[in-house]
Amino acid sequence: MKQNEILEVEIAGAAYGGKGLVRVDGMAVFVRDAVPMDRVRIQISRRKKSFAEARVLERITPSPLRVSAPCPYSGVCGGCSWQCLAYSAQLEYKRQHVQESIAHIGLMPDVRVLPTIPSEQIFGYRNKVEFTCSPFKWQYPGEDRTRPMGEPAIGFHAPEVYFKVIDIEQCLLFPDAGNLIYRDIREYVQADSLPVYNQRTHEGFWRFIMLRHSLFRNQWMVNIVTSGPGRGHLQPLADLLHRRHESITCMVNNITAKKAGISFGESEHLLHGEPVIRDRIDDLEFDISANSFFQTNSRGAETLYGIVARYAALTGTETVLDLYSGTGTISLYLARTAAVVVGLELVEAAIRDAMKNAARNRITNCRFIAGDVRKTLSEIAIRPDVVIIDPPRNGMHPDVLKQVQDMAPERIVYVSCNPATLARDLLELKTAYHVVEVQPVDMFPHTFHIESVALLERFRDDECNRVAPSVFLP
Ligand SMILES: C[S@@+](CC[C@H](N)C(=O)[O-])C[C@H]1O[C@@H](n2cnc3c(N)ncnc32)[C@H](O)[C@@H]1O
Repeated sequence: MKQNEILEVEIAGAAYGGKGLVRVDGMAVFVRDAVPMDRVRIQISRRKKSFAEARVLERITPSPLRVSAPCPYSGVCGGCSWQCLAYSAQLEYKRQHVQESIAHIGLMPDVRVLPTIPSEQIFGYRNKVEFTCSPFKWQYPGEDRTRPMGEPAIGFHAPEVYFKVIDIEQCLLFPDAGNLIYRDIREYVQADSLPVYNQRTHEGFWRFIMLRHSLFRNQWMVNIVTSGPGRGHLQPLADLLHRRHESITCMVNNITAKKAGISFGESEHLLHGEPVIRDRIDDLEFDISANSFFQTNSRGAETLYGIVARYAALTGTETVLDLYSGTGTISLYLARTAAVVVGLELVEAAIRDAMKNAARNRITNCRFIAGDVRKTLSEIAIRPDVVIIDPPRNGMHPDVLKQVQDMAPERIVYVSCNPATLARDLLELKTAYHVVEVQPVDMFPHTFHIESVALLERFRDDECNRVAPSVFLP
């Protein structure tokens, strides 16, 4: 197989990352804009030692798994690479990714990976969306080129070009009301005299538009991220939105002078209403501020936490350690059936929210500690019966893995948004723990992303040959 070579193939699988996968002479070829069972003519665009990449020149026979994608940006915006794939197929390919990662990276081919639990909603399910502003519009095939080139682009990052943005008028993963609010902000920003932020020169004012929705209260948060103060430009926008959308109960301006394309502000200024919105999971209420983590699929979060609780199997006497606790949602969810829960989290604002959330829900057996898990874990003097782990995409640091094993909890419940780092960390833990089963939960329909919950049980001392203990799961 050579660079630029043209081949006719049938796509055999779906790769993690959203591309189609086919093996040619034993080598994996990742094909953009292709789904399993598509018969396509492809051209090799990149040839590496162990894999190749290709683009589709012609779709000869479309896959029977294809459905028509309702979003006009499907195939262009990298966000929903599987919108054209039947939802049932998406669920099965996600399960396979988890299974294969645990088999190949975690070296455990026999771990039980259950069928993926579907999302209740497959459109309009996101409670948070972040749009980026840029003077560089990404031109894509079929784009309306009659629009003035000078108009700033507002939307999502273009694939592989960090400073360009795909101009997006609405996102179907977001509720309709959110798209209406976004449209008003977009029009205002495009007409404003201050320029949008240029990621190459680091000049310009408007950086990000972030919207958040509370499903339970139907409250909206608008967070405008700018490179500096500009009340004279922001307050008229806040007033306009307040007049048009009565469900906006929080509008803030985060200011960041940092060059990195991250929407966290060094300072936050209230433009309208309260600085938080309030959402609910099960019978618990949570105040969420602009910079704190909260699961982006609210109904999916309830399902996810229900599985965490079932795997934790608490009886009311246990000490629980919740690592990477965010705004304390899992800690508080479990506190009702535990003796004590300790949450560790890096972001101080999230810890403050967690403490407020505990007080709001009259939960008194939770303690939250701010700091890097790697350092704070060695400083806390508890012996947990159950450890919950819900790390960011890059998983756990080896030091943290070691410290968790030294604490020797009976059970570990590992929640992961990245099958590869989950599998890598399970490989470390499997010397002392049996991986009982893994439950994938689909929180992100039409994307290749998948959340998984793994249940691990410690080998008993007499199980020196590390035979899996018999486990009963209801
Ligand atoms: C996937 S979120 C989990 C949040 C929470 N469990 C929930 O369900 O809402 C991961 C969290 O880990 C935190 N985090 C990232 N690196 C960390 C570190 N080194 N030490 C402690 N927390 C960290 C992030 O701030 C984020 O809140």
